[in-house]
Amino acid sequence: MDLQLKDKTVVVTGASKGIGLAVVRAFAAEGARVFAAARTAGAEPGGGLGAPDVVAVQADLTTPEGVRALAERAGDVDVLVNNLGGVLDASMRAGGFLGIDDETWLGTFQLNLFATVRVTRALLPGLLRRRGVVVNVSSIGARAAFKPIDYGTAKAALTNLTKGLAEEFGGQGLRALTVTPGPTRTRNWIDSDGYVGELARAAGLELDEFLARVPEQMGITTGRLTEPEETAALVAFLASPVSGNLTGADYLADGGAIKTV
Ligand SMILES: NC(=O)c1ccc[n+]([C@@H]2O[C@H](COP(=O)([O-])OP(=O)(O)OC[C@H]3O[C@@H](n4cnc5c(N)ncnc54)[C@H](OP(=O)(O)O)[C@@H]3O)[C@@H](O)[C@H]2O)c1
Repeated sequence: MDLQLKDKTVVVTGASKGIGLAVVRAFAAEGARVFAAARTAGAEPGGGLGAPDVVAVQADLTTPEGVRALAERAGDVDVLVNNLGGVLDASMRAGGFLGIDDETWLGTFQLNLFATVRVTRALLPGLLRRRGVVVNVSSIGARAAFKPIDYGTAKAALTNLTKGLAEEFGGQGLRALTVTPGPTRTRNWIDSDGYVGELARAAGLELDEFLARVPEQMGITTGRLTEPEETAALVAFLASPVSGNLTGADYLADGGAIKTV
């Protein structure tokens, strides 16, 4: 299927590794011009962002200056993928609601919500000129009770933000969609110094042993974690004109972990 993304201009946030990097590669493979934003160029050879039509933009998107720098560099865009987000170490260490202080709540909301609010606000005029698409990457933490609670709460707000954008700007041609991943085989899950490594240590298990139990414990119907490339393919499809009448909806990429309809 031709996704008709050739020569489209795309911004991806949190783009140097994990799901974001897979999204960059998916759009680049379709012939799009991609602005890939992260604080660093990535740890892989060539920064992991080596394709000719990929422009790495180094910016801390939790700061207004970083957002301004990205917006100035990218100009008018057709597609914005707000992928930036994650769980703070302080949230993991907190041990539950009572251990999460104001600073940690604010940090979690900066990373998972406010950065996306600012990037979207900065790029929206150009997105409207191009009748563009916003895809926000949320989490199954938005859909059910979740630990750490600050992360699930911030992602729930992000999912709501997407719906609101779809409604407010749909009449002007903007589409906005949420992609909601479950456990995805990124460094956070497979590196022993990632947050899952920390969970494994807390449970007194080797990381491999811990990971082998994850699908059953998290109720992942397919019995395995999702690959970043699988989620990236969904993002590219939703951003494509071939899905041009889809908006406001939330698409799970979780191997069946969420059981509600
Ligand atoms: N992995 C999962 O299992 C999973 C599950 C559900 C939802 N998600 C969501 O999916 C998205 C991607 O997750 P992931 O696991 O692929 O992430 P990841 O591997 O931790 O990568 C995060 C990306 O964000 C960049 N980044 C971090 N802080 C930044 C900042 N202040 N400014 C700009 N860039 C920044 C990182 O690069 P630098 O360090 O170079 O800045 C990196 O490119 C997140 O929104 C996450 O919440 C992931």
